[in-house]
Amino acid sequence: QTCEAEVLLFSVPSYACQRRTTLQNQNAVLTDALSLLAENAELSDEEGRGVAFRRAAAVLKSLPEPVTSMTQLRGLPGLGDHSLRVIKDVLENGASSEVESTKRSERYKALKVLTGIFGVGSKTADRWIRDGIHDLRQLGDSAHTLNRAQQAGLEHYDDLNQPVTKAEADAIGEIVEAAVVSVLPGARMTLIGGFRRGKQTGHDVDFLITHPEEGREVGLMPKVVSRLEAQGFLLYQKTTRNSYLESKDGPGRPSSNMDRFERCFSIFKLTEEERGGMKRADTERESDAHSHTSHQIHTRGRGLEAADEDEGVAEERSKPAGRKRWRAVRVDLVVSPISQFAFALLGWTGSKLFERELRRWAGHEKSMSLSSHALYDSKQSRYLRATSEEEIFSHLGLEFIPPSERNA
Ligand code: GTP
Ligand code: MN
Ligand code: MN
Repeated sequence: QTCEAEVLLFSVPSYACQRRTTLQNQNAVLTDALSLLAENAELSDEEGRGVAFRRAAAVLKSLPEPVTSMTQLRGLPGLGDHSLRVIKDVLENGASSEVESTKRSERYKALKVLTGIFGVGSKTADRWIRDGIHDLRQLGDSAHTLNRAQQAGLEHYDDLNQPVTKAEADAIGEIVEAAVVSVLPGARMTLIGGFRRGKQTGHDVDFLITHPEEGREVGLMPKVVSRLEAQGFLLYQKTTRNSYLESKDGPGRPSSNMDRFERCFSIFKLTEEERGGMKRADTERESDAHSHTSHQIHTRGRGLEAADEDEGVAEERSKPAGRKRWRAVRVDLVVSPISQFAFALLGWTGSKLFERELRRWAGHEKSMSLSSHALYDSKQSRYLRATSEEEIFSHLGLEFIPPSERNA
């Protein structure tokens, strides 16, 4: 006879930004299932459903122990009927039939392969699929014209679908920082995104650049990009200029989540010497493959070809002659004025769900509006300044959560 009191019950606050979520996910089997359904919903332009699955997965990620029975889920926030059904299926049968059939579906497979091309979003992929294009060969044979980003994406498809290691991120960091400091002495660069949260691999590398004197950062991005380009480091780049001050909706009340910093989406060319030798990188990549959690997070766009790709690369590398001695890596650069630095740092560290939850908390619980530029308090009709992430959490009435615990 099982006694109620023996069932381990969890107490979890409703917003992900109230919780500490490390990379030690005790419920990876369940969260992988929910994440796949979230991804499928997002790829099908069903954002609401996607968020619901992401929230459910995030709740499970924050639990200190593996869930073994449905009774343990009683009272947990964020678990809708659909998510509960999926969890039940996995707990009782070892797998979710919905997840398995999604994985097998031609549409999902095609969406994964096509959106695995840098520059291809779900809308483009959907249009192509309706034209009968399901894979890269069919895309190549078709009359579809690709834009510059998509051409670069297709050209570097295998590399860009291969996880970036922390060692590679650090190597790129040194190169970019040298370029930044050479065009603007005193400028500072910080690693943001998943690597700041302690992840060992990523789909790209993200950097935030600023200067301690307000205004000195203006015009910095084109100079950094020119410098890196002249050094032969950029295979592709698209720079968008800062439109924050020109925007009509006003700071702190952006009409969308899109931010308005000067930013650069690029594809970086990292050579073997710069990444500290192929051997080291290979060893690290191998050990990543064994870590279920980190591997899973980066499979977006890798799809079913992941295994084949890895083999292909290994084969290519073992060839003595004609071996490619560099790899392509996606790099995102953002420039922020120092007055907005804390907001930019918080907004670009992620995870995406953590950010979404911070904004939801600010709006629903505090009548405030948080963006990567500012925090606006509607009750006081004023902006709340901050020079550190800690201050922003404090303005929001939240306990400070360090980057390594924002892996919701
Ligand atoms: P991987 O790159 O997959 O390892 O994970 P990541 O968490 O680094 O994801 P990504 O590089 O896509 O984004 C990093 C952070 O920047 C996330 O918190 C995103 O929410 C944020 N981000 C990405 N694009 C934008 C954008 O256009 N505007 C704003 N404000 N934030 C963005
Ligand atoms: Mn990233
Ligand atoms: Mn990024």
